[in-house]
Amino acid sequence: MAAAERGCGRLPLALLLLAASASASPRYAPDWESLDARPLPSWYDEAKFGVFVHWGVYSVPAWGSEWFWWSWQGQRDSKYEEFMRQNYPPGFSYADFAPQFRAGFYEPRKWAELFEAAGARYVVLTSKHHEGYTLWPSSTSWNWNSMDIGPHRDLVGELGAFLQQKNIRYGLYHSLLEWFNPLYILDKENNFTTQNFVQTKILPEMVDLVNRYKPDLIWSDGEWEAPDTYWNSTEFLAWLYNDSPVKDQIVVNDRWGINTGCKHGGYINCKDKYRPTTIPKRKWEMCTALDKKSWGYRRDMDSSDVMTDLEIIQELVFVVSFGGNYLLNVGPTKDGIIPPIFQEKLLSLGSWLSINGEGIYASKPWRVQMENTTIPMWFTLKQSVVYVFYSDWPQEGMLPLTSPVPTNVTRVSMLGVPGFLKWSQASVDQGLLVYLPQLSPDILKMKVWTLKLEEVK
Ligand SMILES: *[C@@H]1O[C@H](CO)[C@@H](O)[C@H](O)[C@H]1NC(C)=O
Ligand SMILES: *[C@@H]1O[C@H](CO)[C@@H](O)[C@H](O)[C@H]1NC(C)=O
Ligand SMILES: *[C@@H]1O[C@H](CO)[C@@H](O)[C@H](O)[C@H]1NC(C)=O
Ligand SMILES: *[C@@H]1O[C@H](CO)[C@@H](O)[C@H](O)[C@H]1NC(C)=O
Repeated sequence: MAAAERGCGRLPLALLLLAASASASPRYAPDWESLDARPLPSWYDEAKFGVFVHWGVYSVPAWGSEWFWWSWQGQRDSKYEEFMRQNYPPGFSYADFAPQFRAGFYEPRKWAELFEAAGARYVVLTSKHHEGYTLWPSSTSWNWNSMDIGPHRDLVGELGAFLQQKNIRYGLYHSLLEWFNPLYILDKENNFTTQNFVQTKILPEMVDLVNRYKPDLIWSDGEWEAPDTYWNSTEFLAWLYNDSPVKDQIVVNDRWGINTGCKHGGYINCKDKYRPTTIPKRKWEMCTALDKKSWGYRRDMDSSDVMTDLEIIQELVFVVSFGGNYLLNVGPTKDGIIPPIFQEKLLSLGSWLSINGEGIYASKPWRVQMENTTIPMWFTLKQSVVYVFYSDWPQEGMLPLTSPVPTNVTRVSMLGVPGFLKWSQASVDQGLLVYLPQLSPDILKMKVWTLKLEEVK
């Protein structure tokens, strides 16, 4: 980072050497070999579940998706042109939506309470999406930020303060590209041989975000049109890992250039809604959205577009059994309300996690990830305890497990149900047949149940 280098340049060499030897952590070079070797801070893998929040000026038209501006004036999709003709006066520009982004009912305390009740251990907020509007008073986004126009509030900072009180980690989504930024368009016309946009906009604003809000995670996006060398990604990450105020806890994803996805960075997202079929070599995260058709809030959402409780829990269990984290998105309205249907989904996941989270948080993948027999099952491991998740109730009340090999001290129980369950074994080296208990209605309605297999010596 230019600023940091200049700062160091003024220090006498002796002092620099002293500082280097006094610090225990290694220094990272601005190349992927060095950056990729950094161990991922352990909080991230242990967290397992986070809530993603897409909020911005697109929450004002709230129609189609958060790509509204691009669909309308980039692609010139006739559906969007028609929508504008029908609903807004001629000459109405995208920027004219911003004053209506009022966030009048935004109560970040209530958001934080909801995310806590949902069982989220981290939250990722779009500090800036591809439209370029910043949800914090960025000095490099003049008149296109939440303090100058719209809410007249620091939306990023306010949420961060309440999450911190609840010990929920804070991630900031940040889009590198800005569809209609003239500086970006110019660099693009120069085939990214010039970096004016990166030097005057992107690097200063990312450093500002980090220094101001000290996030735990930077969720980078909008990288796909240019290589990492254009974005100065390795230089930024070296600063982040070596010298930034968050160098010990910061976690980043893999979207740092057209050539980095699935390969480089902290953990990998690969593509949106990524579903690996085997355990990836690196820590990974599946990001997905409660509204199957959009990340930002849209008024044209139907209840059938929203994931069901069962889909959500099954997906979480699948992701965690394959060693991933699950980042589930909600889109608040322009007023700052998280739509009640999303609240309901989050709360019902939270109530499931309050019983079954024991087998989720801080777990590791087991020797087997899933059994796709008549009743599909997923497994996780914590210390020497194996957790088995299944979402179908066998008619005879007996559940056959093929993969676990029991011993004469194996104890089986079900999370949320007191006591141990009876089990039997057809023959040595075979799995177990577990005799399931009668369930109380509140446990029965969970839809995905967890068995706990432990060796009680
Ligand atoms: C950005 O990268 C270019 C070349 O890739 C390099 O010359 C320049 O020093 C870098 N800038 C910063 C601020 O790291
Ligand atoms: C960018 O690349 C395209 C295709 O390779 C070429 O036609 C164009 O002249 C280049 N523009 C500049 C400014 O180098
Ligand atoms: C499980 O098996 C069924 C039937 O063979 C198949 O349709 C389904 O895709 C499988 N699921 C997984 C996760 O492998
Ligand atoms: C369990 O099995 C081991 C050997 O497999 C044996 O030594 C031990 O006595 C058994 N314990 C019980 C309680 O049956």
